Amino acid sequence: MSDFQLTRTLDEHTAEAALRTDVLHGLSHTPKVLPPKWFYDARGSELFEEITRLPEYYPTRAEREILLARAGEIAAATGARTLVELGSGSSEKTRHLIEAMPALDTYVPVDVSESALTGAAEALLAEHPRLRVHALLADFTKALHLPDSPGPRLVVFLGGTVGNLLPPERAVFLASVRAMLSPGDALLMGTDLVKDEAVLVAAYDDALGVTAEFNKNVLAVIDRELGGDFHTADFAHVALWNREQEWIEMRLRARSEVLVKIRALDLVVPFAAGEEILTEISAKFREDGVRKELAAAGMELTHWWTDAAGRFALSLSVA
Ligand code: SAH
Ligand code: TRP
Repeated sequence: MSDFQLTRTLDEHTAEAALRTDVLHGLSHTPKVLPPKWFYDARGSELFEEITRLPEYYPTRAEREILLARAGEIAAATGARTLVELGSGSSEKTRHLIEAMPALDTYVPVDVSESALTGAAEALLAEHPRLRVHALLADFTKALHLPDSPGPRLVVFLGGTVGNLLPPERAVFLASVRAMLSPGDALLMGTDLVKDEAVLVAAYDDALGVTAEFNKNVLAVIDRELGGDFHTADFAHVALWNREQEWIEMRLRARSEVLVKIRALDLVVPFAAGEEILTEISAKFREDGVRKELAAAGMELTHWWTDAAGRFALSLSVA
């Protein structure tokens, strides 16, 4: 018998209220911004999985390479009986870790996408019928109430998703992760590394236009959930490298002057031709920076592993 439980800390009502607030503030703000978690409805989660298979999107393959090479070491170093994964998505890569952890009792995937959580749990339980899976539909930037489960606990945060937070948000987030750790627990985090600009930009602006469609999905979410009348064709996908900040910026640029009505907010949003919405940043890291940010949050980096090409890193740290 498989053991699956889903706890929703985000009911539809709360989620919609949060979306309203974010859209109202973000689109009234200059420059316009939208928080990235709204990309991930069922369609968005599907598009992200497509991104992970694109030839230009190297981070998933690089991180998988490291996980395959180091899963045994990670399992031995942590002896974890509970694996908590933040922004777990399809849990595809996590499987390599789970397979290397014979002592594992409970897996706690945390995500804002319910379709991703249920799909991942189904696939995992088919392979590991003895594993307890307790999924949390929750926002990992808010306080999390983790289910009771045996320690030690390993918290994993893969995909370079930590780079989607702004530096001050990252500091708050890492401190909250630190607060989840008891002595003997650990954090395994994936970070994409600074590299050649052309390689970075291509990863966020692929030839097939999947990333463009993913970026524009946030407009489709606003249209559906808040009665907006965005036409995705009115906006162009823009990905650029910010050299000073060392992050990729994803933007949506109005192709001409546009007026967008959002019924549920009683709002009309004017766009000048060429005006942009900043939809996401994806920060790229260096070892020294990661070590310092972890230290500032009260954690000590104990292992730093990269893929053979040095594109991506996994770090293990302890409280
Ligand atoms: N870990 C997977 C997926 C990365 S994509 C991988 O490495 O391939 C980022 C994931 O984080 C998505 O599944 C998205 O739904 C989730 N996510 C984004 N913002 C979130 C938030 N604030 N709280 C919880 N989950 C979030
Ligand atoms: N965490 C992923 C990253 O920063 C998310 C991502 C990949 C993404 N491609 C994207 C987010 C395009 C927005 C748009 O690599």
